Amino acid sequence: MSLTNFRALGRSGLVVSPLCLGTMTFGPGDWGADEAASRGIFNAYRDAGGNFVDTADIYSGGVSEELVGKFIRETKSRDDIVLATKFGFNGSSSPLTGTAGGGGNPHAGGAGAKNIHRALDASLKRLGTDHIDLYWMHIWDGVTPVEEIVQTLGDLVRAGKIRHYAFSDTPAWVAMKAATIASERRIPGPIAMQVEYSLVARGVEAEHFSAAREAGMGVMPWSPLAGGFLTGKYKRDDTADTGRLSGANPFGDSKFTDRNWLVLDALRDVAAELACDPAQAALAWTMARPGVTSTIVGARTAAQLASNIAAASIRLNDDQMNRLNEVSKPADGFTSSLASPVIRKMVYGGHDVTGWGE
Ligand SMILES: NC(=O)c1ccc[n+]([C@@H]2O[C@H](COP(=O)([O-])OP(=O)(O)OC[C@H]3O[C@@H](n4cnc5c(N)ncnc54)[C@H](OP(=O)(O)O)[C@@H]3O)[C@@H](O)[C@H]2O)c1
Repeated sequence: MSLTNFRALGRSGLVVSPLCLGTMTFGPGDWGADEAASRGIFNAYRDAGGNFVDTADIYSGGVSEELVGKFIRETKSRDDIVLATKFGFNGSSSPLTGTAGGGGNPHAGGAGAKNIHRALDASLKRLGTDHIDLYWMHIWDGVTPVEEIVQTLGDLVRAGKIRHYAFSDTPAWVAMKAATIASERRIPGPIAMQVEYSLVARGVEAEHFSAAREAGMGVMPWSPLAGGFLTGKYKRDDTADTGRLSGANPFGDSKFTDRNWLVLDALRDVAAELACDPAQAALAWTMARPGVTSTIVGARTAAQLASNIAAASIRLNDDQMNRLNEVSKPADGFTSSLASPVIRKMVYGGHDVTGWGE
């Protein structure tokens, strides 16, 4: 596989690379890349044939969008690139921007119509373009009625300001309800879900993957390397001064659990068999999972990105996939137990009946 193995994102005509370039690292910040490093990352991705770039209004306080817009202009690639950005987090007062003191504008965040229009106009300005190819609701706000979200985003598709929309960090039932309302009311519907998904974060398999398949949405994993944990560069007895997960930061040390170290041990074994880096084996596993359309890779340097892109041509055999699936298997929840072979037999008179799309 290469970055030019294009595929449709969900039930849509938006054709994207199997690896999407995440630009959360673009711009200032402790684990960010300055302009020159960001340009190097962007150009390395484009040189490898990638066509899909993911940013957000909140990344580096808007600098990520500004840099992405600048690099697209420099490379005259606006028509080639699928440009995705996000709205939802509040830039006026938020722990994300280090201004959590309160007193911010409540209409500078969330999925209400008022904020979506404000956020989109600001993103278009920073990106220097007149349309977004894929507009993400970054996070469910828990307040705005799904009807309002679908109506607002559907109208923006019809107005041509965005070509498609999708949901990130949203409960599966909300995304499913949105898709159903859109289809019933003949409004353009969501085409993808963006979720944390990796060998150490498989909780979304139970609800999100099934909902995405049912509603014709592509699944796009973020943090496929668990913020760098699955590169294997952190040592169990010393996690300091290594990368983004070292020290105090929003991602914290939550990845350093006994269970995750066991997953990493198995990943190292598989990577050794394939003569590749653990990061490449982890990405190859994610890309091969059923339902995954395009995996969002992040990098702080062009060298990291080049190594991650090489994962596209790595293929795990069945035994390697099975071993990684087993060691990283998420705990059974209520929904996954309903889909078990035992229940299927109880329902179908002892037969193994295969459902559509399984
Ligand atoms: N929707 C959402 O809520 C959400 C949330 C998070 C991310 N995202 C999107 O997903 C993208 C990817 O997320 P992520 O950055 O968390 O992905 P990730 O691939 O899990 O982590 C990337 C980080 O791992 C380290 N790394 C990457 N490749 C490496 C390599 N080959 N060798 C050593 N270290 C390496 C780098 O950090 P260090 O060098 O500092 O260790 C890099 O910044 C983001 O850019 C963003 O577009 C979306």
